Amino acid sequence: MGLFAPLNPPPPPWPQARVWVIGASYGIGAATARSLLAAGARVALSARSADKLRGVADNDPRALIAPLDFTKGAEVATAWGRIRTEWGGCDLVLIVAGTHKEIRAWELTEADADALLEVNLNGPIATAAAVLPGLLAQGHGGIGIVSSVAGYRGLPKALIYGASKAALINFTETLYLDLHPKGLAVYLINPGFVSTPLTARNKFTMPHLISAEEAAREIVAGIERGDFEIHFPRAFTRQLKFLQLLPYRQYFAAVRKATGL
Ligand SMILES: NC(=O)c1ccc[n+]([C@@H]2O[C@H](COP(=O)([O-])OP(=O)(O)OC[C@H]3O[C@@H](n4cnc5c(N)ncnc54)[C@H](OP(=O)(O)O)[C@@H]3O)[C@@H](O)[C@H]2O)c1
Repeated sequence: MGLFAPLNPPPPPWPQARVWVIGASYGIGAATARSLLAAGARVALSARSADKLRGVADNDPRALIAPLDFTKGAEVATAWGRIRTEWGGCDLVLIVAGTHKEIRAWELTEADADALLEVNLNGPIATAAAVLPGLLAQGHGGIGIVSSVAGYRGLPKALIYGASKAALINFTETLYLDLHPKGLAVYLINPGFVSTPLTARNKFTMPHLISAEEAAREIVAGIERGDFEIHFPRAFTRQLKFLQLLPYRQYFAAVRKATGL
């Protein structure tokens, strides 16, 4: 493979593509679903809020509404069966759903940790477990998982969120190693700050904040390029990637200086 060759096989042209977006009722997932529908793809939209999914689909005949809780493997499996029956296959599964809660060390409770890990880690893993046999049987298609730059290294206020996202990064890297030789595409999507209901709760100024529509454009463009890691906005993620390289002494000092925490 050439040094600059894409790490993933190309997706089909969007008008021929069948994409399942999980976490499509609002935020980044809704913007991504809208953007794929606008590009001509058939899109299945999943999340718990059926009414919001219908709002995002806006009566587009290429949209398929499949409400579910993605932490429940049986619900994911039922929706996956329905989608593949209706479409005769699926080219891309995008797992976008997630949640966030700020937790500092002195606020840690087992209940809060369980609740965050259930959605951010068990949800994507349960979903991957349900869809991978079908994707492998097809022998083509891809899976994309939204993690976060908060998974790169430890950050204040992200005690469990960061741990869930670090685990997802590792999980997705390992998926790539296993699935690329089988002809499947695997995308690791690491956004910086995106303006959504999830970040509306943040009380600090978020650096390099972008809109959900910009995030969706980055995700779609990264998939078209065949990137493995789709990270954005670059002006922010480049700084974080530099911080990833620092020894702990310098890393901790830089984080304290940047956050004041
Ligand atoms: N916003 C950011 O700055 C940012 C940065 C880095 C990474 N991320 C990651 O990007 C992803 C999307 O974030 P966002 O900001 O768009 O969040 P958001 O606005 O809170 O949207 C979350 C989506 O996930 C769905 N969801 C939550 N729990 C679910 C469950 N149990 N089953 C099915 N769907 C569920 C929600 O729908 P229902 O409530 O209808 O189920 C909604 O569609 C998350 O994984 C987040 O960690 C976000």
